[in-house]
Amino acid sequence: MKKITKAVFPVGGMGTRFLPATKSIPKELLPIIDKPLIQYAVEEAIEAGIETLIFITSASKHAISDHFDPMPDLRAKFVSQNKQHLVKKLDTLPLEIQRVFIPQGQPLGLGHAVLQAEAMIEDDEMFAVILADDFIQAEYNPLRRLIAVAESNGRATISVEAVERQRISSYGVIAPGQWQGDHVSVNEIIEKPDAASAPSEFGVIGRYVLPQSIFAVLSQTQMDKNHEIQLTDALKELIQLDGLQAVKLAGQRFDCGSQDGFVLANLHVAMQDGDLNQKIRSYLTEH
Ligand code: G1P
Repeated sequence: MKKITKAVFPVGGMGTRFLPATKSIPKELLPIIDKPLIQYAVEEAIEAGIETLIFITSASKHAISDHFDPMPDLRAKFVSQNKQHLVKKLDTLPLEIQRVFIPQGQPLGLGHAVLQAEAMIEDDEMFAVILADDFIQAEYNPLRRLIAVAESNGRATISVEAVERQRISSYGVIAPGQWQGDHVSVNEIIEKPDAASAPSEFGVIGRYVLPQSIFAVLSQTQMDKNHEIQLTDALKELIQLDGLQAVKLAGQRFDCGSQDGFVLANLHVAMQDGDLNQKIRSYLTEH
């Protein structure tokens, strides 16, 4: 099997929960303090060995491409002023990392977005999918762990975590088999079930490692009632064909597609900074 070196970033979503900010700013560029969500996701990917970034975009997302462009004039100015800390902040993407932008065309769901990457993936190749609004803080790079498990047997591998019951209907949910340490074979997967019919407490979070064979499955996957092609429905099919495994996330995840998750992620990161930590604490004691 080829080494896993490509990652797909579906960034075509509207970000309606963050309107009006997302009228002109892609939701993936919303910052956790000073660094956009997409930048965190890209750094995680590169650290896990990814060399090609494939963004599946929609119109009005040009700012994502701009974000990763070099700014040679400003960079030279900071260098001449010996402002190394600012130079570091400008270098958003190592030059050797390839990036590709593919328009999704129509907003037909996550499965449809992933399908647009088909031409970029070779026959015997597995690839990663990263949803930038699942913001993860972990000691061990979550994608690297997923890749290690996927490379051990060549099977599709997804990331899961225990989700509170009242939120389970916002996730793909798995029926796990027998856990072996942090990973498990998946017996069933359902997209956004009612709390009452959820097969377990384990919700899928936005990190996947998929085989090339997922494209054939996706192209046959029926649209759901909202006229979207769900990746989860293709994964359900994949269980029958090749098998599917899940890895339990070891880290803290914030759902930055929701306002509370986004605010908490900012607070979490702010509290790790000595100065901000003190300012937030004194604000909270005064209010
Ligand atoms: C998507 C997937 C869902 C998964 C979730 C993780 O849903 O369809 O299975 O659990 O991402 O964030 P979305 O958040 O796009 O509604």
